Amino acid sequence: MALIQWNESLSVKVVEIDQQHQKLVSMINDLNDAMKQGKGKDVLDKIVNGLVGYTSTHFSTEEKYFARFKYPEADSHKKEHAAFVKKVLEFKDGFEKGKLTLSIEIMTFLSDWLKNHIKGSDMKYSQFFNEKGLK
Ligand code: FEO
Repeated sequence: MALIQWNESLSVKVVEIDQQHQKLVSMINDLNDAMKQGKGKDVLDKIVNGLVGYTSTHFSTEEKYFARFKYPEADSHKKEHAAFVKKVLEFKDGFEKGKLTLSIEIMTFLSDWLKNHIKGSDMKYSQFFNEKGLK
């Protein structure tokens, strides 16, 4: 069963960003499935790297629009992004060095963070972006 499910309650009403969120949801689910199926470190490494890369692509997309439209809450939102990237890089580093195994706790952290961030901070820009014509 999928760890996290995308549904309309996660829509920020901007197509490009919704699609990126859907992809992140699907990558977290893939990682969770691979971990549960006991896939080897190489497979997990590859998925973790993909997730790290795509997370950064996604945050850059949002931050590009923050700058373009002078979003007033950009600073605090960007701080949340930076804190998450730091945390994920710590996981990745520990995992690559063999100090850390991917656990249910880590997967729950990733999926909860994404869900809460979309429903909280991302949702706050939804109407602002729509009013600037970004849909
Ligand atoms: Fe969709 Fe602020 O990350």
